[in-house]
Amino acid sequence: MTETRGARATEAFFGRRKGKPLRERQAAHLEHLLPLLKLDLEAPAPADLTALFPEPVERIRLEIGFGGGEHMIHRAAEDPATGFIGVEPFVNSMAKLLGQIEAKAIRNIRLYDDDATQVLDWLPAASVDQIDLLYPDPWPKRKHWKRRFVSQINLDRFARILKPGGLFCFASDIDSYINWTLIHCRDHAAFEWTAERAADWLTPFAGWPSTRYEAKARREGRSSAYLTFRRA
Ligand SMILES: C[S@@+](CC[C@H](N)C(=O)[O-])C[C@H]1O[C@@H](n2cnc3c(N)ncnc32)[C@H](O)[C@@H]1O
Repeated sequence: MTETRGARATEAFFGRRKGKPLRERQAAHLEHLLPLLKLDLEAPAPADLTALFPEPVERIRLEIGFGGGEHMIHRAAEDPATGFIGVEPFVNSMAKLLGQIEAKAIRNIRLYDDDATQVLDWLPAASVDQIDLLYPDPWPKRKHWKRRFVSQINLDRFARILKPGGLFCFASDIDSYINWTLIHCRDHAAFEWTAERAADWLTPFAGWPSTRYEAKARREGRSSAYLTFRRA
């Protein structure tokens, strides 16, 4: 893919924004439901993020690049006491998730449809209990590694918004990205890897419902690592 000037309007999003034409219902969801659930980054973030949600929540969890949204919908449905913020710039994925939110009458999800770095910079310091980065775009070619979402600067962002003891959970099926993330977190003073034995990173996170990309990885014969880092 050739990159042209202006093709990259955001700092950390390099993917496609649109896929197949949307069905009428999906387009209607984007037009009418998304504005009700979308974070308004023009206004300052509330000092207490629980104010973003219509019903009381006790924890805040951020999912970056939710794709098909299976994971976030599952977690939000099983845990109404957590407020979820989901970020996904790919329009078709956002439309799919909105359909699920409506069908399942889910009330504890708020959304943003552009580069997650914008949300990270908007969120107050020490305001988030957990960040999920599940199967981020792997950028396997070395010349593209600098596009990976895990970077020194984004770990600084994670460190700022996570509460002390908050978690950064990362899953990937790409060995070079798993090693990349381990090295970046090892070199970052704010993060400690919680694993004590191999089973800790080979076993999916508790209650894991899997994701679409994970299913694809399995079909193609790749296994995964599940890394949990604690904000020191
Ligand atoms: C490989 S897919 C994984 C999707 C999903 N988490 C899963 O496991 O099925 C990576 C997703 O991250 C999204 N993404 C990439 N860069 C992003 C960014 N800067 N901010 C938010 N989402 C991003 C892409 O649009 C894509 O949907």
